[in-house]
Amino acid sequence: MKIALIGTGYVGLVTGTCLANIGHDIICVDHAEEKVEALNSGKIPIFEPGLAEIVQSAKSSGKLVFTTDLAEAVRSVDLIFIAVGTPQASDGRSDLSQIEAAAKQIAKAANGDKTVVVKSTVPVGTCRRVGRILAKHGNDHDFQITSNPEFLREGNAVADFMKPDRIVIGTQSSCAADKMRAIYQYFDDKDVPVIMTSLETSELIKYSANAFLAAKVAFINEMANLCDATGANVEDLSLGIGLDERIGKAFLKPGPGYGGSCFPKDTLALTILAQEADSPSRIIESVVDSNSNHIRRLGRKIADFCAESWNVDPKLPLIDKRIAILGLAFKANTDDIRSAASTVIAPLLIKQGANVIGFDPEAAEAARNVIDHIETTTDLDEALTGADAVLVLTEWDEIRAIDWAEKKKLLASPVVVDLRNLYDTKEMARLGMQYSSLGRPAETL
Ligand SMILES: NC(=O)c1ccc[n+]([C@@H]2O[C@H](COP(=O)([O-])OP(=O)(O)OC[C@H]3O[C@@H](n4cnc5c(N)ncnc54)[C@H](O)[C@@H]3O)[C@@H](O)[C@H]2O)c1
Repeated sequence: MKIALIGTGYVGLVTGTCLANIGHDIICVDHAEEKVEALNSGKIPIFEPGLAEIVQSAKSSGKLVFTTDLAEAVRSVDLIFIAVGTPQASDGRSDLSQIEAAAKQIAKAANGDKTVVVKSTVPVGTCRRVGRILAKHGNDHDFQITSNPEFLREGNAVADFMKPDRIVIGTQSSCAADKMRAIYQYFDDKDVPVIMTSLETSELIKYSANAFLAAKVAFINEMANLCDATGANVEDLSLGIGLDERIGKAFLKPGPGYGGSCFPKDTLALTILAQEADSPSRIIESVVDSNSNHIRRLGRKIADFCAESWNVDPKLPLIDKRIAILGLAFKANTDDIRSAASTVIAPLLIKQGANVIGFDPEAAEAARNVIDHIETTTDLDEALTGADAVLVLTEWDEIRAIDWAEKKKLLASPVVVDLRNLYDTKEMARLGMQYSSLGRPAETL
């Protein structure tokens, strides 16, 4: 099928490329000229494992093209996906201006009836709102509005798209439903469940899925804190509860709190949606609070542990200390720093007088652009050299694999605060490191 995709970001680019690779003819549209130019000249504007190779093969086969010309793209297809951003607005709601602008542009460009599929994550009611915009500006053409939320995870996006747990399609049009089934036939043949539902249910499935996962993260972080307070071990606890099939093992690793471009904005937007529907969600409200308290608490934990390790005044321990942050992206295998822990914790440390150098293999430049007064590098040794303390924020393999027996020599002081629990507590103690992690009792030799 010939398909246009509006928005060529993390979701649009992966969706377009994967659909091209299963045989569809895809026109990816983005109004960011530099993005389209880069893609046309063989560069990938984001870091996503495996993506460059499949973009290249889809382009070579002629199945994938990139353009800034939305009107031309709309005119040449009868089905259009919208995959533009829905960032958090200043009042905590979802900012739908990109969706509304795209809908208006589609309507004005339309030269006949079209199916318009909202892939972006949107609050309940948005698809119907998009339908009204299309009807208002669309010269009497018929628009079949459809919801098809995306569940891929950055860092594993291509694999997630190609092996989804399920595909959710919300529509009230049988004609649109048939087209969507045809688009996803490849997955249906592989027995991927395809859930057909209403527009509202489809929109809410995406928000509920993210809220539930965020709740798991917040829960295990609270349990890690409780382990710290009681001497229990969160790794054994995660295993002990995760092996219960009703709970499941996924998302039970403590960390610096959930970040990224989705969970923070989607959980907050869901609480507002629920309040406005007069059906408040106290659980999700608590999850949002718990996550922001967690990161603030960790800021104090880092300063306290450093003060104790260096044996300095706990009131102003960080002044003129050099702190190396390992990992700036919100998680491994991505260059995305939207709502990353680094964007909260680095400014906290800098405010307390620390000189912060951040290492990240892919996100160093992005972080430098948003975190004031941070120095960044893609060279691990440069970050570690002369550091008074090391703070681990992202679980990149390169960081996990650090040989501390070797790298300890580069440090001014062997202090490591690990907010991803990457290293063995016994081994770190054996190496003479002063090591703090989450919810795991410190080892003494
Ligand atoms: N990033 C994820 O992991 C993820 C996962 C699932 C769902 N989502 C949802 O998918 C949506 C897109 O997320 P993203 O991370 O890909 O966003 P993004 O910001 O990376 O990409 C959005 C793209 O849309 C383009 N754009 C905006 N308006 C346009 C217009 N009128 N015409 C042409 N191009 C336009 C922007 O230039 C940008 O390149 C969001 O709603 C998000 O919540 C994201």
